[in-house]
Amino acid sequence: MNEISRPNDLDAFWMPYSDNRYFKSHPRMLARAEGMTYWTADGKEVLDGTSGLWCCNAGHGRKEITEAIQKQAAVMDFAPTFQLGHPIAFEAAARVAEVTPEGLDRVFFTNSGSESADTALKIALAYHRARGESQRVRLIGRERGYHGVGFGGMSVGGIGGNRKQFGAMLPYVDHLPHTHIPTMNAFSRGQPKYGVELAGRLEDLVALHGADTIAAVMVEPMAGSTGVLVPPKDYLQRLRQICDKYGILLIFDEVITGFGRLGTNFGSERLGVTPDILTMAKGLTNAAVPMGGVAVRNGIYDAIVGGAPDGIELFHGYTYSGHPLAAAAAIATLELHRAEDLPGRAKALEPYFEEAAHALRDLPNVIDIRNIGLVAGIEMAPRPGRPTARATDVFRKCFDDGLLIRTTGDIIALSPPLIAEKSHVDRMFGTLSDAIKAAA
Ligand SMILES: Cc1ncc(COP(=O)(O)O)c(C=O)c1O
Repeated sequence: MNEISRPNDLDAFWMPYSDNRYFKSHPRMLARAEGMTYWTADGKEVLDGTSGLWCCNAGHGRKEITEAIQKQAAVMDFAPTFQLGHPIAFEAAARVAEVTPEGLDRVFFTNSGSESADTALKIALAYHRARGESQRVRLIGRERGYHGVGFGGMSVGGIGGNRKQFGAMLPYVDHLPHTHIPTMNAFSRGQPKYGVELAGRLEDLVALHGADTIAAVMVEPMAGSTGVLVPPKDYLQRLRQICDKYGILLIFDEVITGFGRLGTNFGSERLGVTPDILTMAKGLTNAAVPMGGVAVRNGIYDAIVGGAPDGIELFHGYTYSGHPLAAAAAIATLELHRAEDLPGRAKALEPYFEEAAHALRDLPNVIDIRNIGLVAGIEMAPRPGRPTARATDVFRKCFDDGLLIRTTGDIIALSPPLIAEKSHVDRMFGTLSDAIKAAA
């Protein structure tokens, strides 16, 4: 078939993380977006309760970002960053370093969260090798962790469903237990009270494997994709202490928690623990152009770069690392975050959002609600023998009623753009409440 245009043919696009067969027989097409709203191809308004996919933190269609991309595309579409540079990539890194935690001022650019996770793990391994500790090859993740879909992130990640189709994982990987304790922490607001001792399980892994074999521990400061697990009080502090005690690097995967989601630039600031390496993506460019990044403690950069013989210091990078259009989008996005104090807006709205979320507590089948920043997870009891079916019904009804939510298992996650107003919060939880009742 040589015809160029086959507008109604859905066959060719193999959709990611999707029920392709269902979608292609019941398509739901989003055609336009602005502010808090999507419009479907047939003109229906849909309130964005999920910032796209946890990424359009500044809301959709931001003119400042669009214009920055357009302008850069007209000046220079692409230039390599292997052994060459262009000013806007350096400017973007410097702007990112202004919002990362103090002392994490060196930024490696990637194109996605998955690439950021794998890059962070590789940097951790290279760091130990540069310091003469090449036996530190073990990587520790956590059950229910999500670090994207590369082999590194998938292996260190702890979601069985994401691994079982793919056979062997990376060797030398182990996992901490997850922190979900519904018997003790159900309906927590902010950080749950119980579970700090779960961080102590890192000591068990140290005893099992030997401290000097472990390169890094990677966790999400707040686990999003698995269905919103907020870290117990003092849990991250305890992980930090144990990592320091044994010379293990602590990596925070801040792909979701970065750029204002928890009411601060990064989750690390809100939760009071600074990692050695921090990954980011999504909100970095407001998702207008794909981009990710890894910020590292300056000493890590110095050890790898300063300690290398002449020539290339780190044999890693992507054709599009620091892509000019992504760099332009990142600079414009960071400027919006600063000018509009988007983290501050999220923080100001959090109490209202929290109340609205917890008001769903007595609805049928709701077994837990948890929240922090502008994130809420609402967990429902599964239909007997049919896990995920109830959440799928809620998702579909919400969409039909004009609200986009995200579901994982039977957990609903809400993470609206940080420009949300109280009226949006009311609409969001009103529509969701009706859908949960309808799915009883
Ligand atoms: C914590 C975390 N890490 C990594 C990723 C993967 O990002 P991407 O889909 O951009 O590869 C995600 C995506 O949701 C994430 O939440």
